Amino acid sequence: ERSAVLSAQRLLTDLQTTPAPPSAGFRVCGETCLRLQTTQPVPAARLPYRVKLTAGKLYAWCACGHSKKQPFCDGAHASKAPGIKPVRFTPDKDKAVLLCACKQTKNQPYCDGSHLKVIYRDVVKSVKGLFKHE
Ligand code: FES
Repeated sequence: ERSAVLSAQRLLTDLQTTPAPPSAGFRVCGETCLRLQTTQPVPAARLPYRVKLTAGKLYAWCACGHSKKQPFCDGAHASKAPGIKPVRFTPDKDKAVLLCACKQTKNQPYCDGSHLKVIYRDVVKSVKGLFKHE
């Protein structure tokens, strides 16, 4: 019973600190070239980023999940996910917002709660993994 509690604690820690694995797919490039490449955004984190935005400033929200400057674009999409472009936006007033980190939101660049689906999916996968060895 104690080991089950420790496993559950480890699972929760992993979910909070480990980015979800990227999903990959095939992308057609030219007439004869077919290569494996990430075509879907990857979650940069499982919870949204709370950010203070400045009125009139241009921001570029990372839509692919590969940027090292989350939640903003650092140009990584050019090599890691060329089919995905950052979302540029300019707030009309200073405000604190939640910017999506899971990259699954339907209201880019803002969090719409879709990260709950990502967390649920990862919990189910991890729990299945706990019972795989029995
Ligand atoms: S972090 Fe992506 S919808 Fe909340």
